[in-house]
Amino acid sequence: MSRPATTETGNGLERDLNEASAFAPISPYEIYQQWEGVPVYKGFIIDDLLELELGHWARTGGKGAFVNLDGAGGTCDTVIQEIAPGGELRPQHHLFEEAVFILSGQGATTLWHDGGRKHTLEWQKGSLFSIPLNAWFQHFNAQGREPVRMISLTDATVIINRYRNLDYIFNNPFTFGDRYQGDANEWGKPGRYLDGVKKGRVWESNFIADLWQFQPKDYKERGGGNRTTLFEFVDNTMSAHLSEFPVGKYKKAHRHGAGAHIIMLTGSGYSFLWEEGARRKRVDWGRMSMFVPPIQWWHQHFNNGAEPARYLALKPWGFKYKVEELKDTGEDVKKGGAQIEYQDQDPEIHRVFEDECGKSGAEVDMAQFGF
Ligand SMILES: [Fe+2]
Repeated sequence: MSRPATTETGNGLERDLNEASAFAPISPYEIYQQWEGVPVYKGFIIDDLLELELGHWARTGGKGAFVNLDGAGGTCDTVIQEIAPGGELRPQHHLFEEAVFILSGQGATTLWHDGGRKHTLEWQKGSLFSIPLNAWFQHFNAQGREPVRMISLTDATVIINRYRNLDYIFNNPFTFGDRYQGDANEWGKPGRYLDGVKKGRVWESNFIADLWQFQPKDYKERGGGNRTTLFEFVDNTMSAHLSEFPVGKYKKAHRHGAGAHIIMLTGSGYSFLWEEGARRKRVDWGRMSMFVPPIQWWHQHFNNGAEPARYLALKPWGFKYKVEELKDTGEDVKKGGAQIEYQDQDPEIHRVFEDECGKSGAEVDMAQFGF
């Protein structure tokens, strides 16, 4: 049997993961990570994704690292990759979903199905897109001076732990023509808001050019002058959303399933995260910080910085294809939703915000909410 480029380097994908992981102290996914030989970062928050040190990744031909934050709870992972100036990564395809966000640089990705026409997608810092399931893809850095850095959310954790066969996952000829027909127009077509889904706040598109420029829709239910647009792409199970809220405001607390990776694009501030009845944990964030609220932990975001706080959330679930019951995170928990209204929150939360704004020089702007 001929091997694709992903296994030609002989660096691990041809090894027997099923045998290696039987009665092992770590999971098949963790063994796979060791075989890949790049750093694995764990913890609660990454302060700056641009500063994270990456290792040489023999299989891809670039640099990379895995990030397994506590809040992901094994439902998904993130992978940070870097492409050298003028360089490219090797072609690959795989049986897990992948959503890609470009952190810095400019380049292109070529996509194709086995034997099909190749289509090239050009992107830049701020672009968000997804690799159609099991389609071939290859990333290129279009610039000669700057490296490209990108972050991907994948569900490789679940897929690798379940199948334990890397040949099956990385060398599978099946074509998901129901998701992606290999037509260039699928990438070129403009996105659109879906009528009647989540009150018209779901934008379906295979490619969003720049999340720093995209204007999310008003979402007052979350309070704090908040704006949020939800993204669905390439018929994935995974999805994303973009939120922004102004200086001197904070959002209402809410909770949901595991794995929403929050990547701060602008602003500085902090978030409280807590399990029902437990002490609040605090994370302080700035541009390019990433953290993940653990499963069903309340979380609440505060902007005591000098500019609007804008963030991308990459999530292992979506609204088009439901895999779990999703409570309305914009609905009062007392009415069966998953949000704490301002009047029901611990009064200490607002006192801390006033203190923090006093220290940073931001003006508290919560009068319309009764504070
Ligand atoms: Fe959330």
